[in-house]
Amino acid sequence: MANMADPLKLGVLVSGSGSNLQSIIDNIEKGSLKASIQVVISNNPDAFGIARAQKHGLSAVILKHEDFNSREDFDLELIKILKSNKVELVVLAGFMRILTPVFLKAFPQRIINIHPALLPSFPGTHGQKMAFEYGVKFSGCTVHFVDEGIDSGPIIIQSVVPVYDNDTEESLAARILEQEHRIYPQAIQLIAENKIKIEGRKVHIKTVEKIPPVALYNPPLAGF
Ligand code: GAR
Repeated sequence: MANMADPLKLGVLVSGSGSNLQSIIDNIEKGSLKASIQVVISNNPDAFGIARAQKHGLSAVILKHEDFNSREDFDLELIKILKSNKVELVVLAGFMRILTPVFLKAFPQRIINIHPALLPSFPGTHGQKMAFEYGVKFSGCTVHFVDEGIDSGPIIIQSVVPVYDNDTEESLAARILEQEHRIYPQAIQLIAENKIKIEGRKVHIKTVEKIPPVALYNPPLAGF
């Protein structure tokens, strides 16, 4: 990784709305996140994330996976674009495409993803819907390093939200998304500050703040 005084160089991969990309952009512009977005890449030409990138003067590339003969060929092109933009950390922000080992090898321990559930529960697509239908009392979101599995890499940060009795899938998803927009910039900032050490499955984080010793209950305890 480059000198700590330099902003961490990000490549952000999107497939859809790009609200997580927006939160990263906003936090960089506010100065709370010491990073720079070198390039935004979408495999979906209609992704609103591309328009968001352009609005902020960022370099945006559309790379349609249908134009490639294999997943590896697509990934090789992705690697080429990211490397030529000197990307140090690959940030998957709603990127709905499985990456091959070729890609993982090009950025060892340098790819992160956000998932809308408390991993290892409800991996894959529709994490919010699966949690809602399962009837969990808490759900949330997870930022993790990407490994060869589906949403299975070492966990950096999680946020927990309650599921209320009158929730719908949509209201729960909105509550989770609000937290995604907070924890993703935080995770990137921890990496930018070199505060993260991966040991096996565990991500150790050098923070000064202590986590308060509390448990959460839903529904609340009544006198127990
Ligand atoms: C987010 O909820 C993200 O967690 C999810 O896609 C959404 C993208 O929203 N990712 C996954 O489900 C990956 N398995 P955005 O485009 O507005 O950032």
